[in-house]
Order: sequence, then C-alpha cells, then structure tokens
Amino acid sequence: MLTKLCFVTSNTHKFLEAGLVARSMGIELEMCSNLKLELQGDNLEEIAMKSAMIAYTMLSRPVLVEDAGLFVEALNGFPGPYSSYVYKTIGIRGLLKLLEGVENRAAYFKSAAAIAFERGVLLATGEVRGTISTEPRGDLGFGFDPVFVPLGETRTFAEMTIEEKNLRSHRAQAVRKVLEAYVKKLVEPR
Ligand code: IMP
Repeated sequence: MLTKLCFVTSNTHKFLEAGLVARSMGIELEMCSNLKLELQGDNLEEIAMKSAMIAYTMLSRPVLVEDAGLFVEALNGFPGPYSSYVYKTIGIRGLLKLLEGVENRAAYFKSAAAIAFERGVLLATGEVRGTISTEPRGDLGFGFDPVFVPLGETRTFAEMTIEEKNLRSHRAQAVRKVLEAYVKKLVEPR
C-alpha cells in the first residue's frame, strides 16, 4: 500500500535516522535534497509546517520535513531554533565555552516533523532531555551529538549507533508520531 515518501533534507544523518524509523513502519523514505528550505523563525513547529507546505506546493507530492534544535537551560533555551546557525558559527567549542564553569548542564533536543499531502498538514514533536558534557566524546552522528548525554545514559549521542540514538531521540519520536498520523489518514474514508 504505502511505498515512498519524500523527506526534504540535505542532511544524510537525519535521513538515515528517520529512514530507519520509517522502514520499521513499512514506509520507504526518499532523500529529496534538491530543494533548499532554510526558513528561520523562533518556533520549530511553525518552521516545519511552513516548510512542508512550501515543499508540497513546489514538488506536487507528499513530503516530510523536520526541524530540530538544542535548548540549553542555563542559556535560557539558546540556541534553540537557531542551532544550525550557532553550530556553523561558534560550533561545539563555542557552546562549551559559553558553559564554562556553569553547573547546570541541563538541555534538551526538540524536533518538529511535518507531513504535507493532498489532505492537509500533519505535525508531531519529540523531545529528549539530557545534559551537556564538559568535552566532546564520540565520532558518530552529527551537530551537537558529541556533547549531548541523554538522561539515564553516560554516553553521548555521538557514542551511539543510529539504532541506539533512535531509541531515545527527539527526531525518532517526532517522525514516528507524524508517520503514524499519516498512515491513519490514508486509510480513513474522505
Ligand atoms: P536543523 O535546522 O533541523 O537542520 O537543525 C539545526 C541544528 O541543530 C543542526 O545543525 C544541529 O547542529 C542541531 N541538531 C539538530 N538535531 C540534532 C541531533 O539529532 N543531533 C545533534 N545536533 C542536532
């Protein structure tokens, strides 16, 4: 019944993470990296929904879009929706510098996943709480993975396989939920 859904991203790591989740639900994701959507804003849900609508209009086919960010408690939620820019500019070293001598290392990753299709837009979110380590560890994953230790773990996300990260991650939760809603809609009578 369900075969392919276009995931608009140019991030291979995101694609592999979301792809595993989708496959476990019988859905094949296709990486649609030719469309560059770099919407900015201070709300992940809004960015994901708007991007999905734009991508659907441009590609004329059902699309999945995902937007994520790292929210650090001691920095009042910074970098949050601006994580991509902050990663590209000050990077992990810069983030660790901002947290030098700071005792409260609590942070969370949040993901908003949206699917736009003939019948509208679906949205789901996922969150994972954890702490920021004092130094980077591990070489798997991407972005801030080397400094994020999920709650109940001693390893950073960058020390975990995709399968292990997916058991806990913000993205796996959001993608699973939005795909579940999509499958439900597809079998619902109009
Ligand atoms: P994007 O806007 O969804 O591409 O994500 C913004 C930025 O947040 C990325 O460039 C990463 O630096 C960071 N980020 C989002 N999700 C993750 C993750 O799962 N691991 C590590 N960093 C992430």
